[in-house]
Amino acid sequence: MEWTRESRYTKMEDVSQEDLEILKNKVDASPWRQSYHIQPETGLLNDPNGFSYFNGEYHLFYQWFPLGPVHGLKYWYHTKSEDLVHWENVGVGITPGDYFDSHGAYSGSAIEHDDKLYLMYTGNTRDENWVRHPYQCLAVMGKDGSILKASPAIDEVPEGYTDHFRDPKVWKEDDRFWSVIGAQRTDETGCVVLYSSTDLIHWQFEGELKTKLDSFGYMWECPDYFEQDGHGVLIFSPQGIEPQDDSYQNIYQSGYLLGKPLNLDDRLFEHKEFNELDCGFDFYAPQTMEDPSGRRILVGWMGLPEIEYPTDEHGWAHCLTIPRELTVKGNKLIQQPIHELAILRGKEEKATGILRDETRTFEGFNGVTYEMISEFDNVDASEFGVEIRTGETERTVISYDDAARKVVVDRSESGEAFAEKYGTTRKCKVESGKIKFHLFVDVSSVELFVNDGEEVFTCRIFPGEGSDGIRFFAKEGTARFEAVKWDFQ
Ligand code: FRU
Repeated sequence: MEWTRESRYTKMEDVSQEDLEILKNKVDASPWRQSYHIQPETGLLNDPNGFSYFNGEYHLFYQWFPLGPVHGLKYWYHTKSEDLVHWENVGVGITPGDYFDSHGAYSGSAIEHDDKLYLMYTGNTRDENWVRHPYQCLAVMGKDGSILKASPAIDEVPEGYTDHFRDPKVWKEDDRFWSVIGAQRTDETGCVVLYSSTDLIHWQFEGELKTKLDSFGYMWECPDYFEQDGHGVLIFSPQGIEPQDDSYQNIYQSGYLLGKPLNLDDRLFEHKEFNELDCGFDFYAPQTMEDPSGRRILVGWMGLPEIEYPTDEHGWAHCLTIPRELTVKGNKLIQQPIHELAILRGKEEKATGILRDETRTFEGFNGVTYEMISEFDNVDASEFGVEIRTGETERTVISYDDAARKVVVDRSESGEAFAEKYGTTRKCKVESGKIKFHLFVDVSSVELFVNDGEEVFTCRIFPGEGSDGIRFFAKEGTARFEAVKWDFQ
């Protein structure tokens, strides 16, 4: 099907129930539907939005174009959960179509205030010449779950910035509300601006966050600011960064600046260098929230804009990552899968041994949806690791290259190929005598946490249905390993 401007901007309310059913059936027949990741019932999912805890439940919305695997008229889709693991599909959260969000209810965040959940998002509009005009909008959710739009909170882009002005992320500090917004300066460089409010309704432009990155890409999307373990953390997704060694390999990037807490008076943010959040192939536009126990939890979009994925032909695209808990260690953010995921663990298998220049399989070590931890030490092999989702001709290889001291994820033989233009391996330096690979494998993805969250690789893979093998290997020498795996039911 050819996606014209008209079909991309068709409202789902204007599509017949029968046509939606046909699409739903096509999606349901896709062999790559995930089992424990949040994914769209039909169409395309992108950024996580409005991630919050309200009225005894976690709420997580996402950007949604219901009618196909393309970017078009965006809705907010609403999911909720009591445990951050099992998510209930609630339905559409925000429907676009008012004068302030006529061309999409774009990304934003949520904050509780006066027993209500305030959703602040970008209303995307286009005029008859297709010129954008963004509004920063409000919608309010009551305890009964009903969501009502309010008048837009910010209806102008301040002087000095273009119409690429979006993705408000709100927090409360010193009895005031603050919002960072992703922006593009008129000289076409990216940055983040700050607004403040006493009531979430009236907002005041404070100015730009002062960072050292004056010319770092042409647009910064989805900013997020929070404080963690005494540090200020600014997450954003810059566009227009060139690849450099092993870094910045994806079409767009997502990363963070760690520094002193942001000075809200002069907006100075003193920080260290930009670090990518994820070394994998498919990660963008993450959002964080603070849970009732004070943990900082991040969820990302497991996908990227402007890339075709093998599920497109089945009428859907993308999913969200599993939630990760963030902490700071030295100059780094550490990302660990939230402990609640252990409730998915079913049958347990263990294996241990010394690999001597060989590739080995073990009884019970196979599967399509599982969690697996493998630890390697006493290594004199030049390379060692694990192959997952193996079949006659397929495998996804997770290895450690001892000479280069790098973790390497290779999806060149993972199954149906895609995005090859951006390379089929991802690498990241990890200096350690011991290597721990903590994997979360689903029907069409793998999330790898290296050495207790020092690095993360998030990857979509599209293997054939029979590719469920697991093999451990060491090359040119030996490696001792211990592995434990839990099937997910
Ligand atoms: C990031 C993004 C946001 C925007 C949304 C639209 O992926 O481009 O900047 O609000 O997606 O869906």
